[in-house]
Amino acid sequence: MASSELTVEISDLSHVRRLLQSGQSTPHLPPEFVEQAAQMGVPALDSSAMPVLTQLVRLTRPVRVLEIGTGAGFSTWALLEGCCPARIEKLTSIEWNRDRHDFAAQLLARHPLADRLDLVCSNALDFLPMIDETCDFVFIDAIKRHYPIYLELISGLKWTTAVFDNIIGRGSHAKPPAEIIPQRRAATGDMERFLRHVAEDAGMHACVIPVGDGLLTLSRTY
Ligand SMILES: C[S@@+](CC[C@H](N)C(=O)[O-])C[C@H]1O[C@@H](n2cnc3c(N)ncnc32)[C@H](O)[C@@H]1O
Repeated sequence: MASSELTVEISDLSHVRRLLQSGQSTPHLPPEFVEQAAQMGVPALDSSAMPVLTQLVRLTRPVRVLEIGTGAGFSTWALLEGCCPARIEKLTSIEWNRDRHDFAAQLLARHPLADRLDLVCSNALDFLPMIDETCDFVFIDAIKRHYPIYLELISGLKWTTAVFDNIIGRGSHAKPPAEIIPQRRAATGDMERFLRHVAEDAGMHACVIPVGDGLLTLSRTY
């Protein structure tokens, strides 16, 4: 094939772009819930990170999933989308805000795997020490300064994949200290210490996926 023909072929990527764009949202998430959550001002996982989260679950093929920070339930939906119906036994998701917990319960009742869900309305910091079963996949999207505590609390759950959201902090976690506004400096320092701790732990493999506000993925083998 002549090189000019090749150039024409690979420059016409419109069909590939269309395919990729169609994969940029979480399939089947009812649009009326998306609108309602936006009106209520409930923070949710960035829509570009949802298919990535679904894919990570699909690759892990977990039997038990644990989520900290149900919020509106969008990430819970993305997690369920990746679960293999023949394998998944239980997805436990924890949210301490009663209104958000109730909203998510209404949304998630519509998912085909709703019977595997255990939605808990509680403070995760109190609830986690009571879990004594294996959770192979853990997703954490709650208060960022609690991330080191969550990592410690899940250490006995025999997880193989753990994912933490908002690692980039809308860019502030990647800036030199002088460029960070004073109100964000403490949070940025906390995140920096957490990431350093994770990177230095020889028992884990860490990789940041720069999608949405940044997903930190951790894997462990036993
Ligand atoms: C960013 S939102 C989660 C969004 C959700 N993952 C989604 O995509 O729809 C974080 C949630 O964590 C909850 N949260 C924060 N700290 C918590 C705690 N200690 N226990 C339980 N829930 C907590 C907040 O109430 C909030 O709804």
